[in-house]
Amino acid sequence: MKLIIFGPPNAGKGTQSQKLSEKYKIPQVSTGDLLRKAVADKTPLGIKVKSYLDQGKLGPDRLIVQIIKERIAKPDCKNGYILDGFPRTMAQAYELDKITQVDLVLNIVVDFDALLERAVGRRVCPKDGSVYHIKYNPPTKSPVACDKCGTKLIQRDDDKEATVRERLRVYKEQTEPLIEFYKKKCRLVDIDGASGIDSVFKQMTVAIESISKLA
Ligand code: AP5
Repeated sequence: MKLIIFGPPNAGKGTQSQKLSEKYKIPQVSTGDLLRKAVADKTPLGIKVKSYLDQGKLGPDRLIVQIIKERIAKPDCKNGYILDGFPRTMAQAYELDKITQVDLVLNIVVDFDALLERAVGRRVCPKDGSVYHIKYNPPTKSPVACDKCGTKLIQRDDDKEATVRERLRVYKEQTEPLIEFYKKKCRLVDIDGASGIDSVFKQMTVAIESISKLA
């Protein structure tokens, strides 16, 4: 099963991808996580992309496609994967199309105000990437530490309001047009992302399992 989890910044792509990965035992492939790790490790890639992330702009297509090609060629992806944050431009979608055919696109729909509130309250674990929200999905053991590994949670640098607004603008301009592309190419299901995390997850599993039955 090859899935794309699609949606604007802070829609809940990472949250749902982690849950789907646990349930279906296929890896989450998040370009955002891969890029942030490269930045944190100060690799040559990280040095190249840092300013894009800081400004809420998209990294260069050529680099991003290369990262994805390398990641999905790894053995853990042989039974499928969940693409989280890729593709984000038409050029990336065309390149992905040359490599493989996806089975299903789950498009999370959430309104603008909710996205801003989610960004401001988001906390992430810098060690294992777990995602929390101070109001909607707080950690249960300590308010400031990751439930899974105990690491102190942080706020992402690009969750400042001005950067979030820029990420939303970039999404509208460069990423949203992909919805029409995928409607024509494969099955695309709209998911009501305004509901709670468990409800969003349920909608996704229903869509995935209806596709699996068709296969
Ligand atoms: P990336 O990390 O992919 O950022 P994004 O798409 O902006 O998405 P986010 O990670 O911000 O949000 P999300 O949808 O995963 O939401 P989450 O689950 O965390 O990319 C970052 C940057 O990397 C980009 O700006 C760009 O520079 C670069 N980049 C990445 N991919 C690229 C590409 N393909 N091409 C070029 N450049 C690329 O949830 C958000 C918050 O809401 C959390 O606090 C969560 O707990 C909470 N929440 C989630 N679901 C719900 C719910 N149902 N109800 C209430 N709260 C909820």
